[in-house]
Amino acid sequence: MSLRQKTTDLKKRMQGALQGGGEKAVEKQKATGKMTARERILAILDEGTFHEYDLFVEHAGKDFDMDKKYLPGDGVVTGTGNINGYPICIFAQDFTVAGGSLGYMHAKKITKIMDHAMKLKVPLIGINDSGGARIQEGVNSLAGYGEIFYRNTLASGVIPQISVILGPCAGGAVYSPALTDFVFVVDKISKMFITGPEVIKTVLGEDISMEDLGGARVHAEITGNAHFFSESESDCFEQIKKLVTFIPWNNSKKAEPFPSKHPKNKIFKIDDIFPTDSKKPYDVRKVIMAICDDSEFFEVQELFAANIVIGFARMDGQTVGFVANQPMVLAGVLDVDSSDKAARFIRFCDAFNIPLVTLVDLPGYLPGVDQEHAGVIRHGAKVLYAYSEATVPKITVILRKAYGGGYIAMCSNHLRADFVFAWPTAEIAVMGPEGAANIIFRSEILGSTNPEETRKKKIEEYKEKFANPYVAAAYGYVDAVVEPSKTREYIIHSLEIAAHKIEESPKKKHGIPPF
Ligand code: HXC
Repeated sequence: MSLRQKTTDLKKRMQGALQGGGEKAVEKQKATGKMTARERILAILDEGTFHEYDLFVEHAGKDFDMDKKYLPGDGVVTGTGNINGYPICIFAQDFTVAGGSLGYMHAKKITKIMDHAMKLKVPLIGINDSGGARIQEGVNSLAGYGEIFYRNTLASGVIPQISVILGPCAGGAVYSPALTDFVFVVDKISKMFITGPEVIKTVLGEDISMEDLGGARVHAEITGNAHFFSESESDCFEQIKKLVTFIPWNNSKKAEPFPSKHPKNKIFKIDDIFPTDSKKPYDVRKVIMAICDDSEFFEVQELFAANIVIGFARMDGQTVGFVANQPMVLAGVLDVDSSDKAARFIRFCDAFNIPLVTLVDLPGYLPGVDQEHAGVIRHGAKVLYAYSEATVPKITVILRKAYGGGYIAMCSNHLRADFVFAWPTAEIAVMGPEGAANIIFRSEILGSTNPEETRKKKIEEYKEKFANPYVAAAYGYVDAVVEPSKTREYIIHSLEIAAHKIEESPKKKHGIPPF
Protein backbone atom coordinates (compact mmCIF):
# COMPACT_ATOMS: atom_id res chain seq x y z
CA MET A 1 0.00 0.00 0.00
CA SER A 2 1.17 3.50 -0.77
CA LEU A 3 1.48 6.17 1.90
CA ARG A 4 -1.74 7.71 0.64
CA GLN A 5 -3.58 4.36 0.83
CA LYS A 6 -2.22 3.73 4.31
CA THR A 7 -3.37 7.17 5.40
CA THR A 8 -6.82 6.49 3.97
CA ASP A 9 -6.85 3.18 5.84
CA LEU A 10 -5.87 4.97 9.06
CA LYS A 11 -8.68 7.47 8.61
CA LYS A 12 -11.18 4.66 8.07
CA ARG A 13 -10.01 2.88 11.20
CA MET A 14 -10.20 6.10 13.15
CA GLN A 15 -13.71 6.76 11.90
CA GLY A 16 -14.77 3.33 13.14
CA ALA A 17 -13.24 3.89 16.55
CA LEU A 18 -14.60 7.43 16.85
CA GLN A 19 -18.20 6.36 16.38
CA GLY A 20 -18.49 5.44 20.07
CA GLY A 21 -21.34 3.07 20.82
CA GLY A 22 -23.10 3.88 17.55
CA GLU A 23 -25.96 6.09 16.47
CA LYS A 24 -28.64 4.59 18.72
CA ALA A 25 -26.54 4.74 21.88
CA VAL A 26 -25.47 8.31 21.09
CA GLU A 27 -29.12 9.27 20.54
CA LYS A 28 -30.01 7.75 23.92
CA GLN A 29 -27.18 9.68 25.56
CA LYS A 30 -28.38 12.96 24.06
CA ALA A 31 -32.00 12.24 24.97
CA THR A 32 -30.94 12.27 28.64
CA GLY A 33 -29.44 15.74 28.19
CA LYS A 34 -25.86 14.46 28.16
CA MET A 35 -23.03 15.23 25.76
CA THR A 36 -20.83 12.45 24.41
CA ALA A 37 -17.39 11.82 25.91
CA ARG A 38 -15.49 13.55 23.09
CA GLU A 39 -17.89 16.49 22.97
CA ARG A 40 -17.26 16.99 26.67
CA ILE A 41 -13.50 16.96 26.29
CA LEU A 42 -13.65 19.37 23.35
CA ALA A 43 -15.92 21.69 25.33
CA ILE A 44 -13.48 21.82 28.25
CA LEU A 45 -10.19 22.14 26.37
CA ASP A 46 -8.91 25.08 24.34
CA GLU A 47 -9.95 24.77 20.72
CA GLY A 48 -7.70 22.59 18.60
CA THR A 49 -5.55 21.40 21.52
CA PHE A 50 -7.00 17.94 22.21
CA HIS A 51 -4.78 15.06 21.23
CA GLU A 52 -6.30 11.63 21.75
CA TYR A 53 -4.29 8.50 22.59
CA ASP A 54 -5.08 4.80 22.67
CA LEU A 55 -7.97 5.16 20.26
CA PHE A 56 -7.33 1.65 18.95
CA VAL A 57 -7.19 -0.08 22.31
CA GLU A 58 -9.48 -3.10 22.37
CA HIS A 59 -11.16 -4.72 25.32
CA ALA A 60 -9.78 -7.92 26.84
CA GLY A 61 -13.07 -9.60 27.80
CA LYS A 62 -13.40 -13.23 26.70
CA ASP A 63 -16.34 -14.62 28.64
CA PHE A 64 -20.05 -14.26 27.97
CA ASP A 65 -19.39 -13.82 24.22
CA MET A 66 -17.46 -10.64 24.87
CA ASP A 67 -14.77 -11.82 22.45
CA LYS A 68 -17.29 -11.30 19.64
CA LYS A 69 -18.00 -7.70 20.63
CA TYR A 70 -16.21 -4.58 19.42
CA LEU A 71 -16.13 -1.83 22.01
CA PRO A 72 -14.57 1.27 20.39
CA GLY A 73 -11.73 2.61 22.53
CA ASP A 74 -13.01 0.26 25.22
CA GLY A 75 -15.45 2.89 26.43
CA VAL A 76 -13.06 5.60 27.50
CA VAL A 77 -11.45 8.54 25.70
CA THR A 78 -8.04 9.70 26.93
CA GLY A 79 -5.63 12.42 25.89
CA THR A 80 -3.92 15.72 26.56
CA GLY A 81 -4.74 19.33 25.78
CA ASN A 82 -4.83 22.81 27.23
CA ILE A 83 -7.13 24.93 29.31
CA ASN A 84 -6.39 28.64 28.99
CA GLY A 85 -3.01 27.54 27.70
CA TYR A 86 -2.27 25.30 30.73
CA PRO A 87 -1.38 21.66 29.98
CA ILE A 88 -3.88 19.04 31.13
CA CYS A 89 -4.27 15.26 31.03
CA ILE A 90 -7.86 14.15 30.64
CA PHE A 91 -10.07 11.09 30.36
CA ALA A 92 -13.79 10.75 29.76
CA GLN A 93 -15.77 7.55 30.13
CA ASP A 94 -18.00 6.92 27.13
CA PHE A 95 -21.38 5.70 28.37
CA THR A 96 -22.43 4.86 24.80
CA VAL A 97 -19.93 1.98 24.80
CA ALA A 98 -21.07 -0.77 27.18
CA GLY A 99 -22.37 1.85 29.58
CA GLY A 100 -18.87 3.24 30.09
CA SER A 101 -18.26 0.14 32.22
CA LEU A 102 -14.71 -0.35 33.40
CA GLY A 103 -12.92 -3.44 32.10
CA TYR A 104 -9.24 -4.35 32.14
CA MET A 105 -8.12 -2.28 29.10
CA HIS A 106 -10.48 0.60 29.94
CA ALA A 107 -8.73 0.82 33.31
CA LYS A 108 -5.31 0.51 31.61
CA LYS A 109 -6.11 3.54 29.46
CA ILE A 110 -7.07 5.55 32.53
CA THR A 111 -4.04 4.51 34.58
CA LYS A 112 -1.77 5.26 31.61
CA ILE A 113 -3.03 8.85 31.34
CA MET A 114 -2.79 9.16 35.14
CA ASP A 115 0.84 8.04 34.94
CA HIS A 116 1.43 10.63 32.21
CA ALA A 117 -0.08 13.35 34.37
CA MET A 118 2.19 12.37 37.25
CA LYS A 119 5.28 12.16 35.06
CA LEU A 120 4.55 15.42 33.24
CA LYS A 121 3.38 17.04 36.50
CA VAL A 122 0.17 18.48 35.09
CA PRO A 123 -3.42 18.43 36.41
CA LEU A 124 -5.66 15.45 35.71
CA ILE A 125 -9.32 15.76 34.84
CA GLY A 126 -11.49 12.62 34.92
CA ILE A 127 -15.03 12.61 33.56
CA ASN A 128 -17.05 9.80 35.11
CA ASP A 129 -20.09 8.41 33.30
CA SER A 130 -20.18 4.69 33.88
CA GLY A 131 -22.17 1.68 35.05
CA GLY A 132 -19.16 0.71 37.19
CA ALA A 133 -17.09 -2.47 37.11
CA ARG A 134 -17.66 -4.35 33.82
CA ILE A 135 -19.54 -7.33 35.14
CA GLN A 136 -18.35 -9.71 32.38
CA GLU A 137 -14.67 -9.07 33.17
CA GLY A 138 -14.98 -9.94 36.85
CA VAL A 139 -11.92 -9.51 39.01
CA ASN A 140 -9.99 -7.72 36.24
CA SER A 141 -12.46 -4.85 36.56
CA LEU A 142 -11.97 -4.72 40.31
CA ALA A 143 -8.20 -4.80 39.80
CA GLY A 144 -8.59 -1.83 37.45
CA TYR A 145 -10.32 0.22 40.13
CA GLY A 146 -7.67 -0.72 42.66
CA GLU A 147 -4.95 0.51 40.29
CA ILE A 148 -6.81 3.80 39.84
CA PHE A 149 -7.34 4.36 43.57
CA TYR A 150 -3.65 3.67 44.24
CA ARG A 151 -2.61 6.26 41.67
CA ASN A 152 -5.17 8.80 42.95
CA THR A 153 -3.56 8.46 46.36
CA LEU A 154 0.03 8.79 45.12
CA ALA A 155 -0.92 11.78 42.98
CA SER A 156 -2.67 13.48 45.91
CA GLY A 157 -0.79 16.65 46.80
CA VAL A 158 1.48 16.30 43.73
CA ILE A 159 -0.85 17.29 40.89
CA PRO A 160 -4.35 18.74 41.14
CA GLN A 161 -6.96 16.04 40.45
CA ILE A 162 -10.41 17.05 39.26
CA SER A 163 -13.37 14.68 38.95
CA VAL A 164 -16.46 15.48 36.92
CA ILE A 165 -19.51 13.31 37.50
CA LEU A 166 -21.62 13.37 34.35
CA GLY A 167 -23.78 10.29 34.66
CA PRO A 168 -23.83 7.34 37.00
CA CYS A 169 -20.83 6.71 39.21
CA ALA A 170 -21.87 3.72 41.28
CA GLY A 171 -20.43 1.25 43.71
CA GLY A 172 -16.74 1.31 44.51
CA ALA A 173 -16.24 3.55 41.46
CA VAL A 174 -17.17 6.52 43.64
CA TYR A 175 -13.94 6.20 45.55
CA SER A 176 -11.80 7.55 42.76
CA PRO A 177 -13.60 10.94 42.77
CA ALA A 178 -13.62 10.85 46.56
CA LEU A 179 -9.82 10.60 46.53
CA THR A 180 -9.45 13.56 44.19
CA ASP A 181 -9.31 17.26 45.08
CA PHE A 182 -12.41 18.70 43.44
CA VAL A 183 -15.63 16.99 42.40
CA PHE A 184 -17.98 18.71 39.95
CA VAL A 185 -21.64 17.68 39.64
CA VAL A 186 -24.47 18.72 37.33
CA ASP A 187 -28.12 18.86 38.35
CA LYS A 188 -30.22 15.87 37.19
CA ILE A 189 -27.20 14.31 35.43
CA SER A 190 -24.78 13.27 38.18
CA LYS A 191 -25.60 10.21 40.31
CA MET A 192 -23.21 8.87 42.93
CA PHE A 193 -23.84 6.12 45.43
CA ILE A 194 -22.25 3.04 46.91
CA THR A 195 -25.40 0.95 46.67
CA GLY A 196 -28.27 1.94 44.41
CA PRO A 197 -32.00 2.21 45.12
CA GLU A 198 -32.64 -1.44 44.18
CA VAL A 199 -30.15 -2.81 46.71
CA ILE A 200 -31.46 -0.45 49.36
CA LYS A 201 -35.01 -1.65 48.65
CA THR A 202 -33.96 -5.31 48.88
CA VAL A 203 -31.78 -5.02 51.98
CA LEU A 204 -33.59 -2.33 53.97
CA GLY A 205 -37.03 -2.18 52.38
CA GLU A 206 -36.61 1.57 51.85
CA ASP A 207 -37.88 3.30 48.71
CA ILE A 208 -35.77 6.11 47.32
CA SER A 209 -35.14 7.51 43.86
CA MET A 210 -31.64 7.71 42.37
CA GLU A 211 -31.89 11.49 42.44
CA ASP A 212 -32.83 11.64 46.12
CA LEU A 213 -30.23 9.07 47.03
CA GLY A 214 -27.22 10.42 45.21
CA GLY A 215 -28.16 13.25 42.86
CA ALA A 216 -26.08 16.38 42.34
CA ARG A 217 -27.91 18.44 44.97
CA VAL A 218 -27.54 15.72 47.57
CA HIS A 219 -23.77 15.72 47.16
CA ALA A 220 -23.42 19.49 46.87
CA GLU A 221 -25.65 20.31 49.86
CA ILE A 222 -25.82 17.34 52.21
CA THR A 223 -22.87 14.96 51.91
CA GLY A 224 -20.23 17.48 50.90
CA ASN A 225 -18.82 14.96 48.41
CA ALA A 226 -19.16 17.55 45.63
CA HIS A 227 -17.36 20.87 45.52
CA PHE A 228 -19.05 22.53 42.55
CA PHE A 229 -22.69 22.31 41.47
CA SER A 230 -24.10 23.56 38.20
CA GLU A 231 -27.33 23.45 36.25
CA SER A 232 -25.84 22.29 32.95
CA GLU A 233 -22.78 20.58 31.53
CA SER A 234 -21.66 23.77 29.80
CA ASP A 235 -21.86 25.78 33.06
CA CYS A 236 -19.88 23.01 34.74
CA PHE A 237 -17.14 23.24 32.10
CA GLU A 238 -16.90 27.01 32.60
CA GLN A 239 -16.40 26.39 36.33
CA ILE A 240 -13.61 23.89 35.63
CA LYS A 241 -11.84 26.35 33.32
CA LYS A 242 -12.06 29.02 36.00
CA LEU A 243 -10.76 26.75 38.74
CA VAL A 244 -7.73 25.84 36.66
CA THR A 245 -6.69 29.51 36.48
CA PHE A 246 -6.52 29.70 40.27
CA ILE A 247 -4.36 26.63 40.93
CA PRO A 248 -0.83 25.64 39.95
CA TRP A 249 0.00 22.76 37.61
CA ASN A 250 1.75 20.85 40.35
CA ASN A 251 3.12 21.10 43.88
CA SER A 252 6.47 22.56 42.81
CA LYS A 253 4.86 25.59 41.19
CA LYS A 254 2.79 28.55 42.21
CA ALA A 255 -0.49 29.46 40.53
CA GLU A 256 0.03 31.70 37.51
CA PRO A 257 -0.10 35.39 38.52
CA PHE A 258 -2.70 37.70 36.97
CA PRO A 259 -2.57 41.50 36.60
CA SER A 260 -3.44 43.10 39.95
CA LYS A 261 -6.84 44.79 40.10
CA HIS A 262 -8.49 46.92 42.78
CA PRO A 263 -11.66 45.63 44.41
CA LYS A 264 -14.92 47.12 43.19
CA ASN A 265 -15.13 49.36 46.23
CA LYS A 266 -18.11 51.29 44.94
CA ILE A 267 -20.19 48.13 45.29
CA PHE A 268 -18.35 46.41 48.14
CA LYS A 269 -17.75 48.95 50.90
CA ILE A 270 -16.71 47.51 54.25
CA ASP A 271 -18.55 50.29 56.10
CA ASP A 272 -21.81 49.30 54.41
CA ILE A 273 -21.23 45.54 54.74
CA PHE A 274 -20.11 45.35 58.36
CA PRO A 275 -22.90 46.16 60.87
CA THR A 276 -22.33 48.50 63.81
CA ASP A 277 -24.46 46.27 66.05
CA SER A 278 -22.10 43.44 67.04
CA LYS A 279 -25.00 41.00 67.25
CA LYS A 280 -26.11 41.51 63.66
CA PRO A 281 -25.10 39.03 60.98
CA TYR A 282 -23.50 40.03 57.67
CA ASP A 283 -22.30 38.19 54.58
CA VAL A 284 -18.58 37.57 54.99
CA ARG A 285 -18.30 36.87 51.25
CA LYS A 286 -18.91 40.58 50.71
CA VAL A 287 -16.01 41.38 53.03
CA ILE A 288 -13.82 39.06 50.92
CA MET A 289 -15.05 40.84 47.79
CA ALA A 290 -14.27 44.21 49.36
CA ILE A 291 -10.68 43.04 49.89
CA CYS A 292 -9.68 40.88 46.91
CA ASP A 293 -8.66 41.75 43.35
CA ASP A 294 -11.54 42.83 41.15
CA SER A 295 -13.92 41.61 43.90
CA GLU A 296 -13.74 38.21 42.23
CA PHE A 297 -14.22 35.39 44.72
CA PHE A 298 -14.44 31.82 43.40
CA GLU A 299 -16.26 29.95 46.12
CA VAL A 300 -15.74 26.23 46.74
CA GLN A 301 -18.49 24.06 48.29
CA GLU A 302 -20.85 27.02 48.33
CA LEU A 303 -23.90 24.90 49.19
CA PHE A 304 -22.36 22.68 51.88
CA ALA A 305 -21.73 23.68 55.52
CA ALA A 306 -22.36 27.31 54.64
CA ASN A 307 -21.33 28.42 58.16
CA ILE A 308 -17.81 28.46 56.78
CA VAL A 309 -16.82 30.02 53.48
CA ILE A 310 -13.86 28.72 51.48
CA GLY A 311 -12.60 29.63 48.05
CA PHE A 312 -10.00 31.22 45.85
CA ALA A 313 -9.37 34.86 45.05
CA ARG A 314 -6.37 36.98 44.10
CA MET A 315 -4.53 39.57 46.10
CA ASP A 316 -2.30 41.81 44.01
CA GLY A 317 -2.50 39.25 41.22
CA GLN A 318 -1.55 36.18 43.31
CA THR A 319 -3.93 33.35 44.15
CA VAL A 320 -4.86 33.01 47.82
CA GLY A 321 -7.23 30.64 49.59
CA PHE A 322 -9.79 32.38 51.79
CA VAL A 323 -11.25 30.63 54.83
CA ALA A 324 -13.90 32.70 56.61
CA ASN A 325 -16.56 32.11 59.24
CA GLN A 326 -19.98 33.06 57.89
CA PRO A 327 -21.95 34.98 60.57
CA MET A 328 -25.09 34.66 58.40
CA VAL A 329 -25.28 30.90 58.97
CA LEU A 330 -25.32 29.47 62.51
CA ALA A 331 -23.38 32.57 63.58
CA GLY A 332 -20.37 31.11 61.78
CA VAL A 333 -19.73 28.32 64.30
CA LEU A 334 -17.38 25.47 63.62
CA ASP A 335 -19.16 22.11 63.57
CA VAL A 336 -18.55 18.65 62.15
CA ASP A 337 -19.18 19.55 58.51
CA SER A 338 -17.63 23.00 58.46
CA SER A 339 -14.49 21.61 60.13
CA ASP A 340 -14.20 18.91 57.48
CA LYS A 341 -14.78 21.43 54.71
CA ALA A 342 -12.22 23.92 55.99
CA ALA A 343 -9.55 21.36 56.89
CA ARG A 344 -9.53 19.74 53.45
CA PHE A 345 -9.32 23.10 51.71
CA ILE A 346 -6.48 24.26 53.96
CA ARG A 347 -4.56 21.08 53.13
CA PHE A 348 -5.14 21.58 49.39
CA CYS A 349 -3.84 25.16 49.57
CA ASP A 350 -0.84 24.11 51.63
CA ALA A 351 0.03 21.25 49.26
CA PHE A 352 -0.14 23.57 46.24
CA ASN A 353 1.68 26.65 47.56
CA ILE A 354 -1.42 28.79 47.88
CA PRO A 355 -1.22 31.27 50.81
CA LEU A 356 -4.10 31.20 53.27
CA VAL A 357 -6.08 34.24 54.36
CA THR A 358 -8.39 33.54 57.30
CA LEU A 359 -11.21 35.89 58.35
CA VAL A 360 -12.43 35.21 61.87
CA ASP A 361 -15.85 35.88 63.37
CA LEU A 362 -17.24 32.95 65.36
CA PRO A 363 -18.61 32.18 68.79
CA GLY A 364 -16.70 28.86 68.91
CA TYR A 365 -17.57 25.22 68.24
CA LEU A 366 -21.26 24.31 68.03
CA PRO A 367 -22.56 22.84 71.30
CA GLY A 368 -25.10 19.99 71.39
CA VAL A 369 -25.57 16.27 71.81
CA ASP A 370 -25.86 15.77 68.03
CA GLN A 371 -22.52 17.41 67.42
CA GLU A 372 -20.77 15.64 70.29
CA HIS A 373 -22.08 12.27 69.12
CA ALA A 374 -21.26 13.02 65.50
CA GLY A 375 -17.65 13.43 66.55
CA VAL A 376 -17.12 17.19 66.75
CA ILE A 377 -13.99 16.49 68.79
CA ARG A 378 -12.42 14.40 66.02
CA HIS A 379 -13.66 16.57 63.16
CA GLY A 380 -12.90 19.85 64.91
CA ALA A 381 -9.35 18.64 65.49
CA LYS A 382 -8.89 18.48 61.72
CA VAL A 383 -8.92 22.29 61.53
CA LEU A 384 -6.25 22.57 64.23
CA TYR A 385 -4.18 19.93 62.48
CA ALA A 386 -4.52 21.41 59.01
CA TYR A 387 -3.61 24.96 60.08
CA SER A 388 -0.75 23.83 62.33
CA GLU A 389 0.69 21.63 59.61
CA ALA A 390 0.38 24.26 56.86
CA THR A 391 3.64 26.00 56.00
CA VAL A 392 2.37 28.34 53.27
CA PRO A 393 2.05 32.01 54.26
CA LYS A 394 -0.82 32.28 56.72
CA ILE A 395 -2.51 35.65 57.34
CA THR A 396 -5.37 35.98 59.81
CA VAL A 397 -7.75 38.88 60.28
CA ILE A 398 -10.06 38.86 63.30
CA LEU A 399 -13.11 40.86 62.32
CA ARG A 400 -15.34 40.44 65.33
CA LYS A 401 -15.83 37.44 67.61
CA ALA A 402 -12.94 35.09 68.29
CA TYR A 403 -14.12 33.12 71.27
CA GLY A 404 -12.71 30.06 72.98
CA GLY A 405 -11.58 27.13 70.82
CA GLY A 406 -12.74 29.05 67.77
CA TYR A 407 -10.13 31.74 68.43
CA ILE A 408 -7.36 29.16 68.56
CA ALA A 409 -8.59 27.03 65.65
CA MET A 410 -9.03 29.84 63.13
CA CYS A 411 -5.35 30.16 62.37
CA SER A 412 -4.32 31.95 65.54
CA ASN A 413 -0.81 33.08 66.36
CA HIS A 414 -0.47 29.87 68.37
CA LEU A 415 -0.96 27.69 65.26
CA ARG A 416 1.79 29.77 63.65
CA ALA A 417 -0.09 32.30 61.60
CA ASP A 418 2.60 34.54 60.13
CA PHE A 419 0.57 37.67 60.78
CA VAL A 420 -2.56 38.14 62.87
CA PHE A 421 -4.45 41.39 62.40
CA ALA A 422 -7.56 42.48 64.26
CA TRP A 423 -10.14 45.08 63.47
CA PRO A 424 -10.95 47.45 66.37
CA THR A 425 -14.30 45.62 66.51
CA ALA A 426 -12.60 42.31 67.42
CA GLU A 427 -13.65 40.55 70.62
CA ILE A 428 -11.05 38.02 71.68
CA ALA A 429 -12.07 36.11 74.79
CA VAL A 430 -12.75 32.71 76.29
CA MET A 431 -16.46 33.19 75.67
CA GLY A 432 -19.09 35.84 74.90
CA PRO A 433 -19.72 38.59 77.52
CA GLU A 434 -23.18 37.25 78.49
CA GLY A 435 -22.00 33.71 79.22
CA ALA A 436 -18.82 34.87 80.91
CA ALA A 437 -20.54 37.41 83.19
CA ASN A 438 -23.13 34.82 84.23
CA ILE A 439 -20.38 32.46 85.34
CA ILE A 440 -17.77 34.66 86.97
CA PHE A 441 -20.17 37.14 88.61
CA ARG A 442 -22.88 34.61 89.44
CA SER A 443 -22.97 35.06 93.22
CA GLU A 444 -22.63 38.82 92.93
CA ILE A 445 -25.55 38.93 90.46
CA LEU A 446 -27.80 36.60 92.47
CA GLY A 447 -26.94 38.28 95.78
CA SER A 448 -27.72 41.79 94.56
CA THR A 449 -30.98 43.60 95.19
CA ASN A 450 -31.60 43.95 91.43
CA PRO A 451 -30.01 40.90 89.72
CA GLU A 452 -31.03 41.99 86.20
CA GLU A 453 -29.52 45.42 86.62
CA THR A 454 -26.34 43.91 88.13
CA ARG A 455 -26.13 41.35 85.32
CA LYS A 456 -26.28 44.13 82.70
CA LYS A 457 -23.63 46.10 84.58
CA LYS A 458 -21.34 43.09 84.85
CA ILE A 459 -21.77 42.23 81.17
CA GLU A 460 -20.75 45.78 80.27
CA GLU A 461 -17.81 45.55 82.68
CA TYR A 462 -16.67 42.32 81.06
CA LYS A 463 -17.11 43.76 77.56
CA GLU A 464 -15.07 46.80 78.51
CA LYS A 465 -12.25 44.62 79.81
CA PHE A 466 -12.11 41.67 77.41
CA ALA A 467 -14.39 42.14 74.39
CA ASN A 468 -11.77 43.99 72.40
CA PRO A 469 -8.54 43.22 70.56
CA TYR A 470 -6.24 45.10 72.93
CA VAL A 471 -5.68 42.44 75.58
CA ALA A 472 -4.53 39.98 72.89
CA ALA A 473 -2.50 42.77 71.27
CA ALA A 474 -0.85 43.51 74.64
CA TYR A 475 0.45 39.94 74.73
CA GLY A 476 1.57 40.10 71.10
CA TYR A 477 -0.98 37.49 69.97
CA VAL A 478 -2.31 40.11 67.58
CA ASP A 479 0.39 41.77 65.48
CA ALA A 480 -1.55 44.90 64.63
CA VAL A 481 -4.99 46.34 65.20
CA VAL A 482 -5.87 47.73 61.78
CA GLU A 483 -8.51 50.00 60.38
CA PRO A 484 -10.87 47.85 58.29
CA SER A 485 -10.22 50.02 55.22
CA LYS A 486 -6.50 49.15 55.45
CA THR A 487 -7.07 45.37 55.50
CA ARG A 488 -6.21 44.80 51.85
CA GLU A 489 -3.03 46.81 52.12
CA TYR A 490 -1.92 44.86 55.24
CA ILE A 491 -2.69 41.48 53.65
CA ILE A 492 -0.86 42.31 50.43
CA HIS A 493 2.16 43.58 52.32
CA SER A 494 2.23 40.46 54.52
CA LEU A 495 1.97 38.19 51.49
CA GLU A 496 4.89 40.01 49.89
CA ILE A 497 6.98 39.73 53.05
CA ALA A 498 6.09 36.05 53.51
CA ALA A 499 6.47 35.13 49.83
CA HIS A 500 9.77 33.35 50.35
CA LYS A 501 8.93 31.89 53.73
CA ILE A 502 10.69 28.63 54.52
CA GLU A 503 9.30 26.64 57.39
CA GLU A 504 10.64 23.17 58.03
CA SER A 505 8.34 20.56 59.52
CA PRO A 506 9.78 17.89 61.83
CA LYS A 507 11.11 14.95 59.84
CA LYS A 508 8.62 12.09 59.77
CA LYS A 509 7.18 9.55 57.38
CA HIS A 510 3.81 11.29 57.66
CA GLY A 511 1.60 12.68 60.37
CA ILE A 512 -1.53 10.97 61.62
CA PRO A 513 -4.29 13.54 61.16
CA PRO A 514 -7.65 12.92 62.84
CA PHE A 515 -9.19 11.58 59.60
C1 HXC B 1 -21.27 -4.29 31.90
C2 HXC B 1 -22.84 -2.64 31.71
C3 HXC B 1 -22.65 -2.26 33.05
C4 HXC B 1 -21.69 -2.98 33.80
C5 HXC B 1 -24.14 -0.98 32.19
N1 HXC B 1 -23.78 -1.82 31.23
N2 HXC B 1 -23.47 -1.23 33.32
N3 HXC B 1 -22.15 -3.63 31.16
N4 HXC B 1 -21.01 -3.98 33.20
N5 HXC B 1 -21.43 -2.67 35.06
C6 HXC B 1 -24.26 -1.87 29.87
C7 HXC B 1 -25.70 -2.37 29.80
O1 HXC B 1 -25.71 -3.78 29.75
C8 HXC B 1 -26.14 -1.76 28.48
O2 HXC B 1 -25.57 -2.52 27.43
C9 HXC B 1 -25.43 -0.42 28.46
O3 HXC B 1 -24.36 -0.55 29.38
C10 HXC B 1 -26.29 0.72 28.91
O4 HXC B 1 -26.88 0.36 30.15
P1 HXC B 1 -28.42 0.55 30.47
O5 HXC B 1 -28.74 -0.25 31.64
O6 HXC B 1 -29.22 0.30 29.22
O7 HXC B 1 -28.49 2.10 30.77
P2 HXC B 1 -29.42 2.85 31.81
O8 HXC B 1 -30.83 2.37 31.69
O9 HXC B 1 -29.16 4.30 31.56
O10 HXC B 1 -28.90 2.45 33.25
C11 HXC B 1 -27.59 2.83 33.66
C12 HXC B 1 -27.24 2.08 34.95
C13 HXC B 1 -27.45 0.57 34.78
C14 HXC B 1 -28.08 2.62 36.10
C15 HXC B 1 -25.78 2.43 35.26
O11 HXC B 1 -26.82 0.17 33.57
C16 HXC B 1 -26.88 -0.24 35.90
O12 HXC B 1 -27.51 -0.34 36.97
N6 HXC B 1 -25.75 -0.83 35.64
C17 HXC B 1 -25.08 -1.68 36.62
C18 HXC B 1 -24.53 -0.87 37.75
C19 HXC B 1 -23.74 -1.74 38.70
O13 HXC B 1 -24.33 -2.42 39.54
N7 HXC B 1 -22.44 -1.77 38.45
C20 HXC B 1 -21.53 -2.53 39.24
C21 HXC B 1 -21.27 -1.70 40.48
S1 HXC B 1 -20.15 -2.53 41.50
P3 HXC B 1 -26.32 -2.76 26.04
O14 HXC B 1 -25.42 -3.72 25.34
O15 HXC B 1 -27.66 -3.29 26.39
O16 HXC B 1 -26.36 -1.41 25.41
C22 HXC B 1 -18.74 -1.83 41.12
C23 HXC B 1 -17.63 -2.38 41.93
C24 HXC B 1 -16.43 -1.51 41.84
O17 HXC B 1 -18.60 -1.01 40.32
C25 HXC B 1 -15.58 -1.84 43.01
C26 HXC B 1 -14.38 -0.98 43.07
C27 HXC B 1 -13.74 -1.11 44.40
